[in-house]
Order: sequence, then C-alpha cells, then structure tokens
Amino acid sequence: MKKTAILKMLREADGFVSGQVLCEQLGVSRTAVWKYINQLKEEGYVFEAVSNKGYRIVEYPDILTDSEILSRADNGIIREVIFFPETDSTNNQAKKYATETDAANGTLFITECQTGGRGRRGRSWVSPAGSGIWMSLLLRPQIAPEHASMLTIVAAMAMAEAIKANVSEAECGIKWPNDIVMNGKKICGILTEMSAEMDYVHYVVIGIGLNVNTTQFDESIKDVASSIYNETGKKISRSAIVAAFSRTFAKYYDVFMASRDLSGLTDEYNRMLVNKDREVRVLGTGEVTEGVALGIKSDGELMVKKDDGTVAMVRAGEVSVRGLYGYV
Ligand code: BTN
Repeated sequence: MKKTAILKMLREADGFVSGQVLCEQLGVSRTAVWKYINQLKEEGYVFEAVSNKGYRIVEYPDILTDSEILSRADNGIIREVIFFPETDSTNNQAKKYATETDAANGTLFITECQTGGRGRRGRSWVSPAGSGIWMSLLLRPQIAPEHASMLTIVAAMAMAEAIKANVSEAECGIKWPNDIVMNGKKICGILTEMSAEMDYVHYVVIGIGLNVNTTQFDESIKDVASSIYNETGKKISRSAIVAAFSRTFAKYYDVFMASRDLSGLTDEYNRMLVNKDREVRVLGTGEVTEGVALGIKSDGELMVKKDDGTVAMVRAGEVSVRGLYGYV
C-alpha cells in the first residue's frame, strides 16, 4: 500500500524527504503524495513541511492501523493487518476470516476496543479503548493438531522479548504456560484456538491481550492484574511492541517449525519462567500437583519435583506459587 510505503520512508529517513523523491520511489503523482500525507495528518501524524526540503514527521500518534504497524514491522510474521476501531473479539474475527476467506498465514486482527473479549477457561477479558493491545494472529501451520498448543508458548516467549526490547528495565517473565507477569502481576494473557481434523490443522488463532497504558483495573482483578505503565511509569508506543513481537515471533516460530516442538526453545523459555525453582501448586483438570517447578520439556509440559523426590509432568493448568509473592 502506498500510504504504508510513504510512512515507512518518512519514518526511516534521517531528516526531510522531498516530495520529488517520494513520487519517484513510489511511482505516484505529487497530488497523490499530498493526498496520503493529508490522510496521515487526519490520523494524528504531525508533519513539518519545508519548501525545497520536503516532509518530516515530528510526532507519531499511538494508533494501531495497518499502515502504522506494517510501516515498522519488517521481516516479521505479520504480513497483513486487519484493523477494527471496535469489535467483539479479535479471536472471533480471526476465526471468521479464516473460515470464510483465504486470509493467509501471518494475518493480524487488531482492535482499539473489544466489547466481548474472551480469556481462557471461559473467562472474560477486559479490553478498554486505547490502552492495550488486543490482537489475534492467524497461522496456518503444517503441524499435527496435538502440537498446536505449543504455539502459545512460542507466542509468550516472543511477547516477553518484545516487551523487554521496548522497556529496557522491565523485569518481565512468563508464568507457565503463557501468562506474562511484571512484578508478580499479570500484564498479558494468551488465548489460542484452533480448527482441526484428527490429523490436519486448518488454522490456529493466537489471541493476545497486553495491558500497555491501562491505569484502572476492576476491583475484582486489581490485586493480580497490572499494565506496563502501572509497573514502570512509562508510556510505550503500542505499535512498537506489535512490530517487535512480529520479529521475535518469526524468529522463535522458525525454530519451532524446524522440529515441530519446543526442543530448540526450552532453555530460553526456562530462563524466562518466573516459576522456575519455586514452589508451585498446579491445579489441573481434577488433580492438584505440588512441588518445585523445574522447567518445561520439549512438548511444553511442566516438570514438577514433588516432596517424595519423584518428578511429575503437568500438561496444562493454572499455576500458583504458594504464598511467595503476589499473583505468581
Ligand atoms: C487469558 O485468559 O489469560 C487469555 C486472554 C486473552 C485475551 C486476548 S485479547 C485479544 C484476543 N481476543 C479475545 O477475545 N481474547 C484474546
């Protein structure tokens, strides 16, 4: 898209870019360039325009449009962005597009506000306007259905790294299997859904909710939930995090697809794991496992060393650390 290309050239330029250069490189008329610049102005970009020098962007809005994301997300997993000012749930939209259209691997569905955001285990996910990243990545991987849940772990690693790249002092880690926590509070959750036959995956949708600049949390979750802003005092550009995620996810996804499991990623995941070497109490479906978390295996299972010395493998559940600190 020409608008994205203009934005990318201006963003990456060291100083002004002349109207002439924009026209030549993009193969469009002066009038067209002027029209795109006006559209960008309407979206909140502030330009400095100087005759004989050209254009320069002096202020970027905190928006999540396709041009904003694609103009800064080179070499990543995201190939196309479908932006909704408001929607029920980006996971619902991603599933609908995946079923009804030929939306490709790497299509990102993103919104400013979800009216019916969904969390794991049938919970709801509060997704107010403007303050967070509510997005779903569509993948069409050629993997066995039983391997798809590992993609949630790949996404958690990518997001934790993307956050660290943007908030240098952030002490964020992963609570097994895929919550991202900062100072013991949850700032990001992931809901992965898929459509598959016994031996064939139609698509996987990885839905990510990240509280970025959120300041208010509902009474019922305020002790366990937080945002990057609340924990660091820093306002972060949401599109910068999405772009960083696009690159980090592509990197980890390549490693995952090479073996179609987590064998190339376990060491790094275990370094990010806040539960590692801590007492955990895992509430699975029906049973409770208590012990010290040792880390994950190549299939994503958590190894828990019990008091009797045996090591239990736990598939999925809600992990809680007994009384140590906060939510973790
Ligand atoms: C969790 O319970 O921790 C998972 C939360 C996942 C929330 C995200 S926000 C974007 C996507 N759309 C949804 O409805 N849910 C996911």
